[in-house]
Amino acid sequence: MVKYRIAVIPGDGVGREVIPAAWEVLTAAAEAHGGFELSPTYYDWGCGYYLKTGRMMPDDGLDRLRDSDAIFLGAIGDPAVPDHVSLWGLLLPIRQSFDLYVNLRPVRLLRGVRSPLAGREPGSIDMVCVRENTEGEYCGVGGRVHRGFDFEVAVQADVFTRKGVERVVRYAFELARQRRRKLASITKSNAFQYSMPFWDEVTGAVGRAYPDVEVWRVLVDAAAYYFVLKPEAFDVVVGSNLFMDILTDLAAAITGGLGLAASANLDPEGRFPGLFEPVHGSAPDIAGRGIANPTGAIWAGALMLEHLGQKAAADAVMGALEEVLAAEKIRTPDLGGRNTTSEFAAEVARVLKAKG
Ligand code: NAD
Ligand code: IPM
Ligand code: MN
Repeated sequence: MVKYRIAVIPGDGVGREVIPAAWEVLTAAAEAHGGFELSPTYYDWGCGYYLKTGRMMPDDGLDRLRDSDAIFLGAIGDPAVPDHVSLWGLLLPIRQSFDLYVNLRPVRLLRGVRSPLAGREPGSIDMVCVRENTEGEYCGVGGRVHRGFDFEVAVQADVFTRKGVERVVRYAFELARQRRRKLASITKSNAFQYSMPFWDEVTGAVGRAYPDVEVWRVLVDAAAYYFVLKPEAFDVVVGSNLFMDILTDLAAAITGGLGLAASANLDPEGRFPGLFEPVHGSAPDIAGRGIANPTGAIWAGALMLEHLGQKAAADAVMGALEEVLAAEKIRTPDLGGRNTTSEFAAEVARVLKAKG
C-alpha cells in the first residue's frame, strides 16, 4: 500500500472549514479506490500562531514541509495581522523556497453551476490558467526608505528572468499540446517597455518548438474584457504572477465564484512537494459560520491526487463533486443553497463511496 505523507495547513478563516471538509472527500476517495493511503500531518500555522508566537510558522517550518509528498493548504489571512506580514510569513515563502514555479488554475463551468454571464452552458468555459509563481511582480524585491518623512519612498521591483519565463511558458506550451493547442500569452507590452517585451521575446523563442500551437498575445486589459465577453476563446492562458492572480479571480467569477476555484503550485521538476489550495482567501466576511463552499478545496485535493499519480481517484472526486453540484439539492449559500460546508462535503463523499 502506498502511503502519501500530506502536510495539512488549514490556516485561517474559512481555510479551517474547507480543509477538513475536503479531507473527508479525499479519504473517501482513498478508501474507495484502495491501493493508497493519505497520511496527514497537521500544522496549526497561520495568523493564530502568529498572534501567539510572533511568527507565521516556526523557524524550521520549511524543513518540516520539505519531506512531505504534498502540501494541502486552506487560506492565510486575518484582519488582526497585516496581509503582507501573513502572506510573506507563510504562503509566499513556500512557493518561492520550493521553487513552485507553475501555479496551475483550471477554470471550468461545472454542471449545476450558473455563470453570471448570460447563456453559458456547462463546459462552454474550459481553460487552464498557468501563472508564473516565483518571480515577476511578486518577487519580493524592494524596500522603503526615509520612513515616516514626507519624502518617504517605496520601491517594489518586478524581476523577470530568462529561465523563469522560459520554463513556465514551455510548461504552458506542453499543456496546450495536450488540449486544444491554443495558448494565450498575457502581457502589457505597451506600458511595460522592459519586462513585457522580454516576456514576448522569450515566448516567441520557446514557441518555435511548438509550431502546432497557436499563440495569441493578449494585453492584460483586453484579456479582462475577453474573459467576460468571449471566455470560450481561451484554452491555455499563461502570464505573470500579478496578471494571472487578478485574471484567475475574474475567471472564478465567471465560473460560479471564488468558492469553486482550485489551484496547484507545482515544481514540474519534482524536487519539492507541490502545494494544493483553493484560490480563495480566508473570507473573514463569512468565516466561522460553516457556510463556505468547499468545492475549490475539494477540486484542489483532486489536483493533488492526480499529481501524486492517483488519476482514477482524482477523477472519482471530480465526478462525485460535479454530480452533487448538478443535482442542485445540496449546496452552500454562495450557490443559492442553504447547506453547510460539511453537509456539502459529506454528500460528495457519500456519492463517491456509492459509486465505488
Ligand atoms: P477572499 O477570497 O477571502 O474573499 C473574497 C470574496 O469571496 C468574499 O466575498 C468571500 O466571502 C468570498 N469567498 C471566498 N471563499 C469562499 C468560499 N469558499 N465560499 C464562498 N464564498 C467565498 O479574498 P479577500 O477578502 O480579498 O481576502 C481575505 C483575506 O484572505 C486577506 O487576508 C487576504 O490577504 C487573504 N487571501 C489569502 C489567500 C490565500 O491564502 N491563498 C488568497 C486570497 C486572499
Ligand atoms: C492567490 C492569493 C495570493 C497571491 C496572495 C494571498 C498573496 O491571492 O493565491 O491568488 O496573490 O498569490
Ligand atoms: Mn489571488
